[in-house]
Amino acid sequence: MPHATTANALPRTIAHRGLSARAPENTLTAVRGAKRAGCDWVELDVQLLGDGTPVIWHDNGVRRCSNSRGKLAKLTRDRASALDVGSWFHKDYAGEPMATLEEMLALIDSLGMGLNLELKVNRGRSGQALVDTALPMALRALPAEQLVVSCFDAPTLSAARAVQRDAELLRIGLLYDKLPADWRKAAERLDAFSLHLNWRKLKKKDARAIKDAGYALFCYTPNDPIAFHPLWGWGVDGVISDDPALFTEYLPDQNADA
Ligand code: G3P
Ligand code: MG
Repeated sequence: MPHATTANALPRTIAHRGLSARAPENTLTAVRGAKRAGCDWVELDVQLLGDGTPVIWHDNGVRRCSNSRGKLAKLTRDRASALDVGSWFHKDYAGEPMATLEEMLALIDSLGMGLNLELKVNRGRSGQALVDTALPMALRALPAEQLVVSCFDAPTLSAARAVQRDAELLRIGLLYDKLPADWRKAAERLDAFSLHLNWRKLKKKDARAIKDAGYALFCYTPNDPIAFHPLWGWGVDGVISDDPALFTEYLPDQNADA
């Protein structure tokens, strides 16, 4: 069953990869930055290193966001922790370490924040292995209402649901670029909590259908609050933005019906 009754408690803004407009993405510093900017939820990507350690990282490789190169799947925890994942963004962030999931969960818990954890299944990687390792850690670390686990890959979400069958104890978010025709079947099969859609491809009638069916609706990754503004009227619950503070003065009334 969808959980329409909890919709009012949902975050209006979620910091995409942490406060990634102003700090190196998917880092502890980016999460602290989101909190300081007044945003209590973050979206972060999780993957496994070659030795099975879950880390907060988006790409298949480390070239774009570190001082090194090569595939994440080739790294051990020792090698990964020696990387500088801040300098690529700005010299002020030199020495920023790659965050393990364990470190990140501890920080989020200590800050009292919510987490949209995206299970990032890049090409050639196992969604099942990621679920088996990362999901129990996240479930142990955070209360159910402070965690939404999302993924573009339906089999990986099925594996997640198999770990925790109670939809109240594990909120699952279906991630889509463009909403497929069979989204209802997928959402029902997974006992999903939310849909997470590319805001540029979302259609008003689909947004209405998602809300009428009782699911939470989040949009990634708008960074222009004025261009996005009409979508609040379609019933969108929250934005996953690189710079969520931009949206503060454009948010609809929390209590108003969309
Ligand atoms: O979870 C929303 C968004 O993060 C999905 O795309 O590539 O930024 O992980 P990506
Ligand atoms: Mg993501």
